[in-house]
Amino acid sequence: MLDVLNRMHDEGLAQLAGAGDATALEAWRIKYLGAKGALKAAMPMLKDVPKGQKPAVGARLNEVKTALESAFEARKATLGSDGAIAGPLVDVTEPGLPMGLGRRHILSRTIDEITEVFARMGFSVATGPEVEDEFHNFTALNIPEDHPARDSTDNFYMGAAGRPPNAAPLLLRSQTSTVQIRTMEKQPPPLKVIACGRVYRPDTHDATHYSMFHQVEGLCVDRGVSMVDLKTALVQFARAYFGDKAEVRTRPSFFPFTEPSAEVDMKMKVKGEWKWVELGGCGMVDPNVFQAVGIDPEEWTGYAFGLGIERIAMRKYGIGDIRWLFENDARFLRQF
Ligand code: DAH
Repeated sequence: MLDVLNRMHDEGLAQLAGAGDATALEAWRIKYLGAKGALKAAMPMLKDVPKGQKPAVGARLNEVKTALESAFEARKATLGSDGAIAGPLVDVTEPGLPMGLGRRHILSRTIDEITEVFARMGFSVATGPEVEDEFHNFTALNIPEDHPARDSTDNFYMGAAGRPPNAAPLLLRSQTSTVQIRTMEKQPPPLKVIACGRVYRPDTHDATHYSMFHQVEGLCVDRGVSMVDLKTALVQFARAYFGDKAEVRTRPSFFPFTEPSAEVDMKMKVKGEWKWVELGGCGMVDPNVFQAVGIDPEEWTGYAFGLGIERIAMRKYGIGDIRWLFENDARFLRQF
């Protein structure tokens, strides 16, 4: 009887595969699964099987029945109602492909975090244009006409095409200090603002240089503001952003728009170790800057600082190459 069942199984499936339309399929169903079909006909043979073999033969009978029935259902689904092949089986109950969730760029998130910390310290957010004139990028910031920072090889000056002859030259801003000027022109003191944004310099690209990067600029103007307030603001920021053990170190330096001026280092965790990282500059707003925007330097004092955002993000997140931040390789971006 096992032979009969096995043959029925193999022949049944083979013939089913050849049933190309609804009529052939129905004929097949009657032949194998019908009331007088092969399966029904085999059942009575079970009583003649020797007692010891009955369980095995009975089990095989059930297997063959199930195999033929499910093959029939599958074949029926493949054939359209008009009998034509409808295409591959699609299991609509299968879970779909997972949809990739997007995320904000690591630099955008760093900017948000920095902004939030300074906002808690009472700074509001200021902005300015990325295409600037020489007055806001240099002159008002006390950078003299012959200063090397104005050099055409150190800045992205815009072409004159389409602009009136003799129009003042424009450039992509080389520092966010321009926003200090823009803010003081618009708003009378006291004021306390930060500005995060892009700056541009024609640097050759390597692991630590890029021709576009981001700075966070801070400016506080009030009566009686001192270097102590500056240091306090920087330390508060460092602690809030990098943790309780963060420290700030200032080293005497020179910037035309501050007097005195200092370089800012912050002690932050780099690959698990606390290290000094140079982040930018700071100082007390130079009286010449106040005069350029019509603020009385006898009445008002102020501090300012400018820090590199890529530096902060790269050290904080262990990013070894600044170019990775701008290549937009999803495999890199997905890590954060
Ligand atoms: N603008 C400077 C730079 O790009 C950084 C800087 C230094 C900003 C001192 C300041 C400052 O506000 O007070 O190198």
